[in-house]
Amino acid sequence: MIHFRSNLTVAVGEAMIEMAEAGPATYRRGFAGDTFNTAWHMAQILDAALPVRFVTKVGTDSLSSDFINLLDADGLDISHIGRVADRTMGLYMIELDGAERSFHYWRDTSAARLLAEDEGWLTEALHGAGLIHVSGITLAILRPDARARLISALATARTTGARVSFDPNVRPRLWPSQEENRDAMQAMLNVTDIAVPSFDDEAALWGDASPAETTARLRDAGVAEIVVKNGAAPVTFWDGAQVGEVPCAPVSDVRDTSGAGDAFNAGYLAARLAGHDPLLAIASGQKMSATALQHFGARIPAGQVPALAGSKPQLDVR
Ligand SMILES: Nc1ncnc2c1ncn2[C@@H]1O[C@H](COP(=O)(O)OP(=O)(O)O)[C@@H](O)[C@H]1O
Ligand SMILES: [Mg+2]
Repeated sequence: MIHFRSNLTVAVGEAMIEMAEAGPATYRRGFAGDTFNTAWHMAQILDAALPVRFVTKVGTDSLSSDFINLLDADGLDISHIGRVADRTMGLYMIELDGAERSFHYWRDTSAARLLAEDEGWLTEALHGAGLIHVSGITLAILRPDARARLISALATARTTGARVSFDPNVRPRLWPSQEENRDAMQAMLNVTDIAVPSFDDEAALWGDASPAETTARLRDAGVAEIVVKNGAAPVTFWDGAQVGEVPCAPVSDVRDTSGAGDAFNAGYLAARLAGHDPLLAIASGQKMSATALQHFGARIPAGQVPALAGSKPQLDVR
């Protein structure tokens, strides 16, 4: 089983300004982004006992300052958020049409796209981490040379004992081609210790026929700890010793599925950092995502983030 040499988590990626429709032509501002959502939930769960740093780049404008101030107030380590003078944060709008939601993005020239321009800066930002969390969206927003610098900085961090977790979060529209997407994912798996994919993403990119096939493919790629989410279906995991499936308790009143996977990752990784084994950590992931499903928006309101699970879930060993 993986152990962490320090209790510092460092998440790397993009947070965007979120404008969620609140009434006719009226929008409420928030901030969201996959690795950011995971880092923010982890910070709420771990409540400053175990530090969580979010690494990104934002602008020098007042919106970017508001974002940094929010993270600071909510207990995240903001020491390595870079500021780029001539760019600002990406933005997206959520439009409602009854229960249907549509998303519009303005993120092509966001400051976060420059987060891996300087490998020395990145290496410094990752310094001292026990766990580093990255996603396929983090990879997708980078040019190929910058992506290679990030992967190189992760490889360096691993040589000094850091562990890397990776959620592929496949978003075909962010990639110029499926081939480039696959190549980047494969390169990332070479520096991944813990993979937390969702099965539908993996099936779309790799043609996996079942979560067991996803698990086997990631294992062949050298990943030591694998947790495959699959919506309401059981979570499939492999931790080097046992393979199994953990059923999901049904969630009543599902309001919004966005961010369920990010919240799961937060519960799982926070529990692992706190010393829980993978099976117990899955229970925390499921608890966190169940709560996220019952709230609008990608993040659970501060103060309503549940505590880590205290007892092991039922396991179907295969
Ligand atoms: N309909 C649902 N009922 C119960 N749990 C769910 C449901 N949808 C998602 N979950 C929970 O959220 C986790 C992540 O969901 P998934 O849809 O696989 O990820 P993503 O949000 O990344 O697409 C699942 O492992 C499960 O714990
Ligand atoms: Mg996901």
